[in-house]
Amino acid sequence: MRSNCFYLLILLAVSLASFVSSSQAAGLQHNFYKKSCPKAEEITQEIIWNHVESNPALPAKFLRLFFHDCFVRGCDASVLIDSTTGNPAEKDAGPNKSLAGFEVIDKVKTAVEKACPETVSCADIVALAARDSVSFQFKKSLWQVQTGRRDGTISKLSEANASIPSPFSDFATLVKDFSNNGLSVQDLVVLSGAHTIGVGHCNFFSKRLYNFTGKNDADPSLSPSYAAFLKTKCTSLSDNTTKVPMDPGSSTTFDPHYYANLKQNQGLFQSDAALLTNSRASNLVDKLTNSDDFFNAFKNSIKRMGQVGVLTGAAGEIRKNCRVVNS
Ligand code: HEM
Ligand SMILES: *[C@@H]1O[C@H](CO)[C@@H](O)[C@H](O)[C@H]1NC(C)=O
Ligand SMILES: *[C@@H]1O[C@H](CO)[C@@H](O)[C@H](O)[C@H]1NC(C)=O
Ligand SMILES: *[C@@H]1O[C@H](CO)[C@@H](O)[C@H](O)[C@H]1NC(C)=O
Ligand SMILES: *[C@@H]1O[C@H](CO)[C@@H](O)[C@H](O)[C@H]1NC(C)=O
Repeated sequence: MRSNCFYLLILLAVSLASFVSSSQAAGLQHNFYKKSCPKAEEITQEIIWNHVESNPALPAKFLRLFFHDCFVRGCDASVLIDSTTGNPAEKDAGPNKSLAGFEVIDKVKTAVEKACPETVSCADIVALAARDSVSFQFKKSLWQVQTGRRDGTISKLSEANASIPSPFSDFATLVKDFSNNGLSVQDLVVLSGAHTIGVGHCNFFSKRLYNFTGKNDADPSLSPSYAAFLKTKCTSLSDNTTKVPMDPGSSTTFDPHYYANLKQNQGLFQSDAALLTNSRASNLVDKLTNSDDFFNAFKNSIKRMGQVGVLTGAAGEIRKNCRVVNS
């Protein structure tokens, strides 16, 4: 009897421990700043909402910034560090094209530093800014953000080049890019739904319009009528300045419409179209056209993305200025 109780206790302890570790994976938790900086999330939301109100392009910038941060050295705000002589940083890498929102992040950082010096990490500000900017149109948070990330001290152009998925990738390559970060096929398909907002530059897809296999041909997996429309925007292969909405018609609205586009062969990049080339991914695409399914799945996948390679506890630092490593 006594030993039965003992085993029961052990079982309870083990299951409790695994529950805690799965709900606070990677050492993050909800409301990490509750005691140390109770106004941190409120201050962040207010500044982000104010800026989004006058600039509807911003949510796409912050969502992509968060993705790029997490995929290079984990979500450690390394994407915010400015290049210095001798160290070209992530943000100056080729794939950085049109990364933006840095000034707004600086404003949030200045405000939280004023409220609670050297307490709130830049990495958490990036995660909160993505959530709050996308949520502005709904006037309520679309997903919960765990906090407690700390800031990294290294940012390298070459690593951004190597780690940011390319829009020319096929399905297998994308799956590998995601699994390198502990993310699944489901995460790949769900997070690609972020392309329901924002813009893409012609040079990332014009090969699909003009010279797909080098024979002045078009990509057969792109809708011919959509290709014809895109050609009126991107008039030559060398155009690298024109940008087009990735989800024309609702490019500032966070909704599942990306998946409807995909099903009509109107995904903008090869990496978007690639999601239809695998049966499991393509089944997910069908499911995610449903709004509730998309929002629920996005909550889970972006939480997982926000846990990638995070520094917690005593690792890293709390940067004083998000652009500069502490001296
Ligand atoms: C699956 C692999 C992915 C590839 C290959 C990819 C590639 C790209 C490219 C090439 C652009 C256009 C950039 C430009 O022309 O300025 C873009 C834009 C964007 N991406 Fe992705 N992306 C991927 C996944 C993601 C994920 C996981 C997120 C966020 C969760 C994301 C969020 C965005 C957003 C919001 C934009 C629009 C940015 C703007 O309007 O300035 N992407 N992506
Ligand atoms: C992106 O990189 C280019 C150089 O490739 C640089 O001129 C530009 O300032 C960078 N953009 C940002 C937002 O840092
Ligand atoms: C990074 O990629 C760009 C093209 O996107 C290329 O021009 C540059 O040489 C690459 N740099 C490194 C260090 O790999
Ligand atoms: C199309 O691609 C082929 C092979 O890469 C190249 O030789 C040709 O110059 C390209 N055409 C144009 C118009 O750039
Ligand atoms: C765009 O292309 C031109 C000419 O090929 C080049 O000089 C310029 O640096 C490119 N700009 C960007 C932002 O890649």
